Amino acid sequence: MASSTLTCDTEPWKDLKAHVQDIRKTHLRNLMNDTERCKSMMVEFDGLLLDYSRQCTTLDTMDKLFKLAEAAHLKQKINGMYNGDKINSTENRAVLHVALRASKDAVICCDGKNVVPEVWKVLDKIREFSERVRSGSWVGATGKALKDVVAIGIGGSFLGPLFVHTALQTDPEASKCARGRQLRFLANVDPIDFARNIAGLNPETTLAVVVSKTFTTAETMLNARTMREWISAALGPAAVAKHMVAVSTNLPLVEKFGIDPNNAFAFWDWVGGRYSAVAVRNNGKGTKNIQHVLLGLLSVWNVTFLGYPARAILPYSQALEKFAPHIQQVSMESNGKGVSIDGVPLPFEAGEIDFGEPGTNGQHSFYQLIHQGRVVPCDFIGIVKSQQPVSLKGEVVSNHDELMSNFFAQPDALAYGKTPEELQKENVAPHLIPHKTFSGNRPSLSLLLPSLDAYNVGQLLAIYEHRIAVQGFTWGINSFDQWGVELGKSLASQVRKQLNASCTKGEPVKGFNFSTTTMLTRYLE
Ligand code: F6P
Repeated sequence: MASSTLTCDTEPWKDLKAHVQDIRKTHLRNLMNDTERCKSMMVEFDGLLLDYSRQCTTLDTMDKLFKLAEAAHLKQKINGMYNGDKINSTENRAVLHVALRASKDAVICCDGKNVVPEVWKVLDKIREFSERVRSGSWVGATGKALKDVVAIGIGGSFLGPLFVHTALQTDPEASKCARGRQLRFLANVDPIDFARNIAGLNPETTLAVVVSKTFTTAETMLNARTMREWISAALGPAAVAKHMVAVSTNLPLVEKFGIDPNNAFAFWDWVGGRYSAVAVRNNGKGTKNIQHVLLGLLSVWNVTFLGYPARAILPYSQALEKFAPHIQQVSMESNGKGVSIDGVPLPFEAGEIDFGEPGTNGQHSFYQLIHQGRVVPCDFIGIVKSQQPVSLKGEVVSNHDELMSNFFAQPDALAYGKTPEELQKENVAPHLIPHKTFSGNRPSLSLLLPSLDAYNVGQLLAIYEHRIAVQGFTWGINSFDQWGVELGKSLASQVRKQLNASCTKGEPVKGFNFSTTTMLTRYLE
């Protein structure tokens, strides 16, 4: 275990700790009256408007947070990432997902080599292949064009693509080429997921894309084998070459599986699985900008200093229904760590519990807790122009306006609350006053996007990815490894061996504790 300076030992950290007492004396109701403060907490960039005036912060807090960023060497760490330094030190890897979105003329080096031309070679290969499938020039084993696609992958190889697909599914421009086609996602090794995914599909017109960085993930490989069998059973083993392709860093294993290497789309160990989703190629634009730093620092403030462990992601857009699940993985797998990058146990809480639902659905689900129960800092995400506008005859307010009315109302309800005095003035029965009181002072931020096209979806992705990296850099942890998922995997492999031995040789369950032995024995019976 190496010794190093933890961010919490720095002066700005201590200063912020002391500052919490000042902030506890304020209420957002009063902070919102300071127009100058609010003005300075509106940031416009690339058509997006960020309003963080409903955070429990003063200008002084922001100043102190920027001092903390300096003490955490945030700028140097961000530069290190862009320069291809091996900042994922536990895996000795660079962190260069930004290169996936770089323009052709950009230069981003890893081990002294510009990786952008390689990236573009693969992106072009993907485009050419997709165009062949769409045009029908790529046909399946029986000569029919491939219509439907099943993407097989889990974790980062699933949630990012699912989010991008869901977000753009109803975008008139992006969905043009998908008309009459289905894209399904097979992630869970639960056979129910397989059954649901192939329901109604014809193997003759189906393409399976196996997405796995390592090409060893147990669930993905079993699902890929199940799909291979489904195709082979219907069309013969030779059909696999026409009906299955792969996206992976492990091309030898792809070939061993039986997928033609010409139909494999490579990527590199410097792309973390959860950072591998790309919506549009230039979404890295402005990624070093102040907004990511601001957002990351605000999250550190909420989690570590104010002690609010969760964050609700609340997009007022059904197209963004898979945004929270995606960010859940990016954030919690990246920053759910208990030691510093040098292996020193953290004497403070890092990481964040992310969850969310699109508005207004969430309002009818868990908002009660957010309004009167626990304090959960919220991210409200709104869209100016709907992908699918609807205005009913005789109704002045469009359906999208109805949705957005809630987007604008909720942050104020959380910030201001409702006092017993206000309720008294409204002649509320005294016994109901405690129940109808809202304490307010609940932080949120609002992000308003002009529309939800491929570019803005990419922007949104980049904002959150960078924000999460900023949080990790400030906490001084490694946001790019995920050792926490390993223990469960290795225990599952012991159980798998036991199931195998019991089923094939009738061996009794042994080597497990009483609880697991009892449960396993019951399962095998
Ligand atoms: O859950 C752990 C994890 O390693 C994720 O980080 C990753 O996105 C996922 O499994 C799938 O990994 P792969 O792309 O290698 O199949």
